[in-house]
Amino acid sequence: MERLDKVLSNLGYGTRKEIKALIKSGEVEVDGKVVKDNGLKVKAEECIIKVFGEEINYRKYIYIMMNKPDGVVSATFDNYDETVIDLLEYEDSVFKPFPVGRLDKDTEGLLLITNDGELNHRLTSPKWHVDKVYYAEINKIVDEEDIKAFENGIVLDDGYNCLPAKLEIINADKNGSEVYVTVQEGKFHQVKRMFEAVDKEVVYLKRVKMGNLTLDENLELGQYRELSDEELLCLKDVHETK
Ligand code: URA
Repeated sequence: MERLDKVLSNLGYGTRKEIKALIKSGEVEVDGKVVKDNGLKVKAEECIIKVFGEEINYRKYIYIMMNKPDGVVSATFDNYDETVIDLLEYEDSVFKPFPVGRLDKDTEGLLLITNDGELNHRLTSPKWHVDKVYYAEINKIVDEEDIKAFENGIVLDDGYNCLPAKLEIINADKNGSEVYVTVQEGKFHQVKRMFEAVDKEVVYLKRVKMGNLTLDENLELGQYRELSDEELLCLKDVHETK
């Protein structure tokens, strides 16, 4: 059970003071009855709450898939740069969501944004080994030797020994290569540093998959949508079965 005013403030209906006034004015109904007590305890998932006669869409958690554009940082706040949270509509940002893991400022693609701390933890904790798939463009020819080196575990510039990673070549010629890289970790600049270790440079990076969740190609850069129930189940399934 939660206080009615807290439920409404979590959904962005105003400050606690404003909500108290709203409730006192008789504009809030719970299960068909006008309530005037802002401290009323309710089971928000189970009752029908109406504000100005309209039923509210109550939920505790929000799960967003964004196609992150280049130039914004994966953080909730930044002194200089626009953040992925700045790209959200007010009705979504009231849930106080945060990005799950980080993509570099210049990396594009799939970013999950949620306020579900437990899911965040399970998707980012190394012990769950969640696959992250990136599409990358590389400045040189990527070959079988690189595939083997990734399979055996790349050693980064700081001596860190990466877990085995999968490298698939889409095409490769003297102008450069297009590849898919699958990693299970999320070290700082990991994919870029893995290629540096084999004397190559990532010139473009986009995440396309995380666990069972695939980037919706209909989302333009900077656009986002909520996950479907099915996608959410799939995503939660990954860590329960591993
Ligand atoms: N690896 C990188 O180097 N950068 C990212 O943004 C994600 C993975």
